[in-house]
Amino acid sequence: MNIYIHPNEESLASAAAAMIAGIVMEKPDAVLGLATGSTPAPVYRELARMAHRGIVSFAQVRTYNLDEYVGLNPDHPQSYRRYMNEQLFDHIDIDPANTHVPSGFADAGMAAAYDEEIQAAGGIDLQLLGIGRNGHIGFNEPAGDFSRLTHIVDLTDSTRQANARFFDRLEDVPRQAVSMGIGTIMQARRILLIATGEDKASAVRDMLNGAITPRMPASVLSLHRHVTVMLDNDAARLLNH
Ligand code: PGA
Repeated sequence: MNIYIHPNEESLASAAAAMIAGIVMEKPDAVLGLATGSTPAPVYRELARMAHRGIVSFAQVRTYNLDEYVGLNPDHPQSYRRYMNEQLFDHIDIDPANTHVPSGFADAGMAAAYDEEIQAAGGIDLQLLGIGRNGHIGFNEPAGDFSRLTHIVDLTDSTRQANARFFDRLEDVPRQAVSMGIGTIMQARRILLIATGEDKASAVRDMLNGAITPRMPASVLSLHRHVTVMLDNDAARLLNH
């Protein structure tokens, strides 16, 4: 695992975008696993800038997102499909048909078929991840077991509270989501986890220094051969350098 600590969010975003762009330059039809939330937004802005300047083209890239809220239409203001369109896809030369976000109306069988689609596309070359304050990756919440395939999850109160900032009221935050499983994520050839801000510091510490346990889902990443972690100073605050 390679861990990089950046002085601020901007420098982290440039480095993360450079890594993603580098993979696409090497392999123009790369399969990217993408994430939503506040942390990746500056990375997507930087990628859009690079595409605009002609530094990188996404014309042949295929993307698979980690998760979607159950019950939200693709055009709902808080749906992750809408987030991806607004934050990235509308600003780069990607073919919309090559972009995939799990359906918020998937049943268990449709959710599991998402893994088959990813495999049929050749598997994920790079999976981008954020981390939840409770250590979740995707919407894999702390649990008794590591989940395997894409599945429907019950969101914890702490995740619903953390994401309530995007909704008018806490009651509006969906109670379930469709999420790639830990098994899906671990099959990616490379993983890039990004975390910024002090409120991620204890999850980052437990991910890197604690036991490997499904109670801290991100801890499983120590078992993956090709993981890069990019942190800003605030998120790295509790690590022993
Ligand atoms: P955030 O979400 O980037 O909005 O903090 C990260 C996550 O919950 O995985």
